[in-house]
Amino acid sequence: MTRDRGYLAELALRRTLPEGLKTLARLARLAFQPAPAPAPVIPQAQLEDARLVNTRWELLHRLPHGARVAELGTYKGDFARMILDITRPAELHLVDVSFALCRADVLADANVHRHETTTVAFLRGSDAPDFDWIYVDADHGYEAVVADIAAARGRVKPGGYLVFNDFARIVRPGFGVFGVHQAVTEFAVESGWPVAFFCLNGEALYDIALRRPG
Ligand SMILES: C[S@@+](CC[C@H](N)C(=O)[O-])C[C@H]1O[C@@H](n2cnc3c(N)ncnc32)[C@H](O)[C@@H]1O
Repeated sequence: MTRDRGYLAELALRRTLPEGLKTLARLARLAFQPAPAPAPVIPQAQLEDARLVNTRWELLHRLPHGARVAELGTYKGDFARMILDITRPAELHLVDVSFALCRADVLADANVHRHETTTVAFLRGSDAPDFDWIYVDADHGYEAVVADIAAARGRVKPGGYLVFNDFARIVRPGFGVFGVHQAVTEFAVESGWPVAFFCLNGEALYDIALRRPG
């Protein structure tokens, strides 16, 4: 509980700090945390059926429509708007520590369920595999993504998808430190879940979708 409160305070601070201070904090962190070893190699067999798409909204045309969906990390709600418009979900569960900046039209949608809490607290609310797909786009730090994966994997229906935004490894000074690539690759190797989609992006911040077998 105390740890949760500390994490919530850290997230609140991150949302309000000016970019210059954030960069200083990242530089300080990098001084104490050496770059991690390269991520493991995903066996080729897990990549054979993967499809390459040009954007993450093209991906939305290929994920299940009329589905039960969760987006972890909503921010202003722009991608949630696309999920609603393109996939017409039966239920879209939006999870964020704050919806203060989220667009009103998204929050007003009858199929949207808002959860103002941490991603892990939301996911631990049930053990049931009850989502057709979950879009993971909250805290991009390595430990946070590992925690999101641990809590989310059991919530995806067999045959459903766990999708990650910003599948990137960024350890360079001056940028955010992204551990998404490391955490997702380790999960793919450990779980054997095949890669179903890989989405290109203009800033090389790719999306990747893994499919739960079954
Ligand atoms: C990159 S933004 C999400 C962008 C959104 N998915 C989109 O594409 O339009 C990340 C959001 O995750 C939220 N966030 C970060 N860590 C979180 C956590 N542990 N639990 C819940 N929300 C978190 C932040 O408040 C922020 O609004």
